[in-house]
Amino acid sequence: MVKTEEIIKEISRLKKEKRAIILAHNYQPDEVQEIADFVGDSLELSRKAAEVEANLIVFCGVHFMAETAKILSPQKKVLLPDFKAGCPMADMLSAQDVRQLKERNPSRKVVAYVNTTAEVKAEADVCCTSANAVKIVSALPDEEIIFVPDRNLGAFVAGQTGKRLIAWDGYCPVHENIRLKDIEKARKLHPGAEVWAHPECRPEVLKQADRIFSTGQMIKEAPKSPAREIIIATEIGILYRLRKENPQKSFYPACEKAICNNMKKINLRKIYECLRDEKPEIIIEQQVAEQARKAINLMVKYI
Ligand code: 13P
Ligand code: SF4
Repeated sequence: MVKTEEIIKEISRLKKEKRAIILAHNYQPDEVQEIADFVGDSLELSRKAAEVEANLIVFCGVHFMAETAKILSPQKKVLLPDFKAGCPMADMLSAQDVRQLKERNPSRKVVAYVNTTAEVKAEADVCCTSANAVKIVSALPDEEIIFVPDRNLGAFVAGQTGKRLIAWDGYCPVHENIRLKDIEKARKLHPGAEVWAHPECRPEVLKQADRIFSTGQMIKEAPKSPAREIIIATEIGILYRLRKENPQKSFYPACEKAICNNMKKINLRKIYECLRDEKPEIIIEQQVAEQARKAINLMVKYI
């Protein structure tokens, strides 16, 4: 049995030798976040992937995130340590579904959450993340917009912008499982705490939240906020970083069971093997990547 310290040493050696960089999402296991060069939300990670000098990127997250990184940096080799790390919400919508939505709603623009496949992005006019969805939808001149695939984020954005969104009925099973009763229970246990929720949560949960943030916004706001105790309604992997970076504050999970099993498929051994073998590699058909890049670049222009 190879020891964890040896695996970490090997990862570090291979990284230097191959001029590679390790990017990790805020929901990754603690030990993965610990060895990563950069930890962030889906938008921050895509931007980082595009700006870093490295030729090789090991993306510790789920498939659509690694795909987005590849779309933005086509000349770099992007590796995903476990190809089975997918996102059930992204799998709830196909490119064909979007084409049908467009046929049924001609001349309506399509805003696609980044939690979508490259093929779906290629059918969209503009992408958004949970950090900028309200901004993107507000910036569009249209009053009626197709919004895919997250119904909860769609409802939140519609409420914030006053626009009519034709939303797909997709959802994140992890956030969907955070219930109103979990928030009520957590509030009873920690009466002085604020509740911060990710916009993928159910509308009734968002209604009870004091703040609604993407994972990156939670990380940025935590040190600035006057709140000393915060109940976090999102995937619990983010607690590691929140606690590490704000040791004077207390963070409580709204629901201990809010675990994204796909995010947890990445581990140190898989990262080591992936760096060693330079696979599995993200490959996207050129035409799909070019079309998807237009929608992602337009998002970046709007923010
Ligand atoms: P962020 O964009 O906030 O990182 O969220 C991504 C995600 O998959 C949430 O479930
Ligand atoms: Fe997808 Fe939900 Fe996991 Fe995020 S937490 S990657 S939306 S399944």
